[in-house]
Amino acid sequence: MDRSRPSPSRVEIDDPRVTSLLGEMTLTEKIGQLHQINAGEAHLHDHLAWALREGRVGSVINEVEVDIVNEMQRMAVEESRLGVPLLIGRDVIHGFKTVMPIPLAQAASWDPPLVQDAARIAAREAAASGVNWTFSPMLDVSRDPRWGRIAESFGEDPTLAGALGAAMVRGYQGDSLANPVSLAACAKHFAGYGAVEGGRDYAATNVPENELRNVYLPPFQAAVEAGVATLMTSFSDIDGVPATANRWLLRTVLRDEWGSDAMVVSDWDSVRQLAIHGLAANDRESAYQAITAGVDMEMHGEAYVGHLEALIGQGVVALELIDQAVARILALKYSLHLFDRPYTDVGSFPPPGAADARAVAKRAALESAVLVKNASDVLPLNAQALDRLAVIGPLADAAHDQLGTWIFDGDPGMSITPLQALRELVGDHVDIAYEPALATSRDRDMQRIETAATLARQADAVVVCLGEEAILSGEAHCRADIDLPGAQTALVRGLAEEGRPVIGVIMAGRPLTLSGVVEHLDAVLIAWHGGAMAGPAIAELLFGHAAPSGKLPASFPRMVGQVPIYHSHKRTGKPPSPETIAHIDDIDPRAPQLSLGMTSFHLDAGYTPLFPFGYGLTYTTFTYHDLRLEQARVRLGEDVVAHVELENTGSREGVEVVQWYVRDLVGSVTRPVRELKAFERVHLAAGERRSITCRLTAQDLAFAGRDGRRRAEAGEFHLWVGGDSQAPVRADFWLEDD
Ligand code: NOJ
Repeated sequence: MDRSRPSPSRVEIDDPRVTSLLGEMTLTEKIGQLHQINAGEAHLHDHLAWALREGRVGSVINEVEVDIVNEMQRMAVEESRLGVPLLIGRDVIHGFKTVMPIPLAQAASWDPPLVQDAARIAAREAAASGVNWTFSPMLDVSRDPRWGRIAESFGEDPTLAGALGAAMVRGYQGDSLANPVSLAACAKHFAGYGAVEGGRDYAATNVPENELRNVYLPPFQAAVEAGVATLMTSFSDIDGVPATANRWLLRTVLRDEWGSDAMVVSDWDSVRQLAIHGLAANDRESAYQAITAGVDMEMHGEAYVGHLEALIGQGVVALELIDQAVARILALKYSLHLFDRPYTDVGSFPPPGAADARAVAKRAALESAVLVKNASDVLPLNAQALDRLAVIGPLADAAHDQLGTWIFDGDPGMSITPLQALRELVGDHVDIAYEPALATSRDRDMQRIETAATLARQADAVVVCLGEEAILSGEAHCRADIDLPGAQTALVRGLAEEGRPVIGVIMAGRPLTLSGVVEHLDAVLIAWHGGAMAGPAIAELLFGHAAPSGKLPASFPRMVGQVPIYHSHKRTGKPPSPETIAHIDDIDPRAPQLSLGMTSFHLDAGYTPLFPFGYGLTYTTFTYHDLRLEQARVRLGEDVVAHVELENTGSREGVEVVQWYVRDLVGSVTRPVRELKAFERVHLAAGERRSITCRLTAQDLAFAGRDGRRRAEAGEFHLWVGGDSQAPVRADFWLEDD
């Protein structure tokens, strides 16, 4: 399959089959198509059965028993008047039965083909259950690790999120939606949800249009360009107009500017929530607001079925709006070939958790782990040189928690934990002593820390698996304090006192504030919630059977008060520098008011994160030489081409994620200090050197100016290349008007 090609064109909304079917529908049947019903625990409940037979439902959410799904399809196709099949929607977020690393972890791989492969496996497993529509990828740029949903995101950067989101769309949708193992993807949550105030889920967002266009919308546009079949509106209130009623987003941007015919679904009951927001007085007004704004289908809510018929009858809503929405839904159903293939033959699919699925899950877990500290090259461990290894911590053997959030269909029985995998990998040579020390990550009972410290003392090295349980991140699971919860910091300190090398493995759904433990740990591997195969991946990385290659997709703050802190911030009129800041402990109490540098920083945290975006170590080292531009002066509209020599200067093979950043020095609107523009995973043997090329098009350098239009502007640019967002190797170029 061609990885860069958008999913092929689908059935158009003006296809004759769509038009003819639409012509046969009563208004009630049309409105039925706009209605999604939750099956949930009650499965084929009475109301759903009635709606199916009456042609009053277009989609069912949350049914994955294939026999029941087939029965629902049968009722829709064989017992309703027009026999329109169903969209069967499910949150397949990072795998279905075979749980892949959480999306934030997958983002740390910086590997679009891998993300595509993982989504393809998820699609295949979900399709075997009769699912034909997933509510993924989540493309909300996430710059606040307090927000639990950062786990579901691709992190803080629009370019990275756009590339991975497009890859995920291609993975779900495959070469064709007509393929029985393809799912319709859904880019969500359109748009701006990542900016919820205070990192509190569902809170309001205040994102100016320029910021929306330059930061929050580009990943959605990338998904649209990749052919995403559907989009979901965000729950959030954006600048006073909740996304579910936001005509500007849903019509001006999506339809008029991007030319997309993708079907738009609301989020869960978010149409009726317009009244709770205070934008509408009641469900009737909510229905009016949502349909006129451009929401085609209402997810689990009854504002449309309850009120659209009357709104049309009274001439308040034009029938044409309903017809357009229905046409989009029918076109999608034709694209998925549901009319000629409504039933799922489970026997035609490989069993869930097949070897290739587990192999992709393992590859994803291997590539997503990020090594952020490795003092004195304590890693990789050498099994021949160790007699005893202490494996400690509440996440070392937590089969459920390593799977992370959104695992409705995942089976913890398929998980291999770090403890199991370490025993399997080196248990023949190394005596492994295990002590969780804390029952959960939140456990504050310190009694067993002493036992763990004793094991550490008796061991040659200590692996401590720390982090958060799955339930501490994801939707509605936000935290104001993002330190390691419970007594984990005390546990680390207790272990460190024993004088053995202590390796911390952090298994979490978000960037945590690790300042209090990093100094006590010799090595730190950020393994996130790594999915079913997290254990084998961690074991192989720790013992050097594989080398870490992940890079952080979001900055790790030193302390929570720095949030939001992200690499592509604006420069401000008073940018900080090492010479212009001071630490709170060093300030003379009688110092004059203006004694400090008068720049933008915190007295107690400075202005840098603990670990920057893009950062990650491996078991070898890379250097960058001879950055050169083919032309330093480039006519506007032409490509900027740069080359750099990348050298593996260590003694092992390794993978480097080469990252290219740009700063546009002067713009019609202010530009970030650096923006990621391109990246590439490069494998080099020890000592190998390779020339790497970056080609930036005018589109890559374009941004939305004051008029909202995207274009590149003439002037001076800095270009950096390196292994993280603080890369120092720089060359300058100029875009010139004709
Ligand atoms: C609400 C969430 O915001 C959304 O991401 C999800 O897809 C729907 N519920 C359906 O479960």
